[in-house]
Amino acid sequence: MPETLILSRSDVASLVTMAEVVAAVEAAFVAHGRGQVQMPPKVYLSLPEHGGDFRAMPAYMPASRDQPARAGVKWVNSHPGNPARHGLPAVMGTYVLSDPATAAPLAVMDATWLTAVRTGAAGAVASKFLAVGTPRSIGFVGCGVQAQVLLDAHRVLFAPRELRCADVRPDAAAAFAAANGGRVTSTEEACACDIVCTSTPGVAPVVRRAWLRRGTHVNAMGADAPGKQELDVDVLDGAKLVIDDHEQATHSGELNVAWSQGRLGDAQLYGTLGEIAAGFKDGRELDELTIFDSTGLAIQDLAVARLIHAAALRRDAGTRVDLQA
Ligand SMILES: NC(=O)c1ccc[n+]([C@@H]2O[C@H](COP(=O)([O-])OP(=O)(O)OC[C@H]3O[C@@H](n4cnc5c(N)ncnc54)[C@H](O)[C@@H]3O)[C@@H](O)[C@H]2O)c1
Repeated sequence: MPETLILSRSDVASLVTMAEVVAAVEAAFVAHGRGQVQMPPKVYLSLPEHGGDFRAMPAYMPASRDQPARAGVKWVNSHPGNPARHGLPAVMGTYVLSDPATAAPLAVMDATWLTAVRTGAAGAVASKFLAVGTPRSIGFVGCGVQAQVLLDAHRVLFAPRELRCADVRPDAAAAFAAANGGRVTSTEEACACDIVCTSTPGVAPVVRRAWLRRGTHVNAMGADAPGKQELDVDVLDGAKLVIDDHEQATHSGELNVAWSQGRLGDAQLYGTLGEIAAGFKDGRELDELTIFDSTGLAIQDLAVARLIHAAALRRDAGTRVDLQA
């Protein structure tokens, strides 16, 4: 039986660079746009009596120029009370990567870091196709974990001159600004940028239409569950709306509230990031307001997990176990 690599969070984070993650995630969107991947809908296991939920995210990607075919599943939770009650993180992900030809489990790895960087990379890939050619300014609304990886991923592709940082917690905005050479601003000022990344966990909109100008690209990253919303519904009207996946976006993405109220339908959706990345649809065409609604795809996780596994084999990292022994 082939051995399975066990990779901890520190193993995983030291094996790949953000530039490699961004390239792998872009390739995953291209494969998605070409219809080459398999990605059944996320499965939710809701356990309010235990203070949280689990999600299973399976996917398959065929071989690419530099990577073998792989299948895998991410098992991830959301237990908001964990830090206070148990001293544990609210979100802990585990990834199981398999060889589709033999079904052998190739690796079991921490997927918490992987989830963060693949999300940052998706925002950067969206900006590559949807932002103005040379974006000069990036505004962050919400300056937590996702904001940092979004910035790191954007810096792989762009060299913005100005970073504006807004957060309801002034200490969070100040720490993010200080760590990254940015400036603390109001949410309104953060929205007056070439690229705006929203990554707040709220259910009430924080961005108003009047604060966004034409030509801006918004990465709406925070809404990833039913009822969550960061942009006023007015913001969606007339904007070029790009989604990652129709089912996920309408069920739990930025669009879900407007969708459930019947204020938005298919006619207003421009297409998926995969269709744009694969060249089937144009990205930015005009001086328009563009919005990418990110919910997080299982293929983003798989693309990064197979990259990590390949790097671990090259560098002899991790602990090998025979699960069948
Ligand atoms: N789209 C995806 O694929 C994806 C992936 C991972 C996480 N997420 C979502 O992204 C969101 C942020 O995650 P995170 O890990 O960065 O959380 P975090 O707690 O590290 O950071 C969130 C930040 O938002 C700030 N904030 C809260 N309300 C705000 C408001 N009204 N205005 C401005 N700032 C506000 C908080 O003070 C905090 O600093 C969560 O909703 C999470 O579920 C989405």
